[in-house]
Amino acid sequence: MPERAICTDHILLIGFMGSGKTSVSRRLSSMTGLSLIDVDQRIEALQHRKIPAIFAQEGEQGFRRIETHTLEGIRYEGRSIVSCGGGIVCNPANRPILKALGTVVYLQVPVEEAVGRITHPETRPMLSGPRPVEEIYNERLPVYREVADITINTSGLSVQRVATLCRRELDKRGLL
Ligand code: S3P
Repeated sequence: MPERAICTDHILLIGFMGSGKTSVSRRLSSMTGLSLIDVDQRIEALQHRKIPAIFAQEGEQGFRRIETHTLEGIRYEGRSIVSCGGGIVCNPANRPILKALGTVVYLQVPVEEAVGRITHPETRPMLSGPRPVEEIYNERLPVYREVADITINTSGLSVQRVATLCRRELDKRGLL
């Protein structure tokens, strides 16, 4: 059987919940013509369950296992804009996987602004867990920075502006 081709030049968006990954990735996809992969949507489609149901039935650890498996599968897809869930950096095993998949773009946002942007908190189980959101944010911040190839400060910016900044940075590096 022929080997399946592996993609190492995806563009992956990471960042805290509410950082705009979903909207910016959609915009970037239409700006660049690259296809779009939303890891959370893919998890829900493969699992035939919504994310809150996965958390309720398997706990966070169970969700993280599924997330890693789904992320790994993306290497067999054609070059895409990949929108990752905010906790993709939690499992240390995901960090080299992200790096091997392509260029990682971190959408940075202050925690208060991120929380203010979240319109459906009931769809984010991490926001109704026992840990304060600031604690989760502070724990993840250095990891987002470590994994990122490109960091975009999104504070106060529109989706269109952030997508334009992403495209500019990718362009500068000859990645588009
Ligand atoms: C999570 C973020 C969510 C989703 C899941 C866990 C997290 O994605 O993957 O609820 O741990 O931060 P968004 O960042 O798109 O909300």
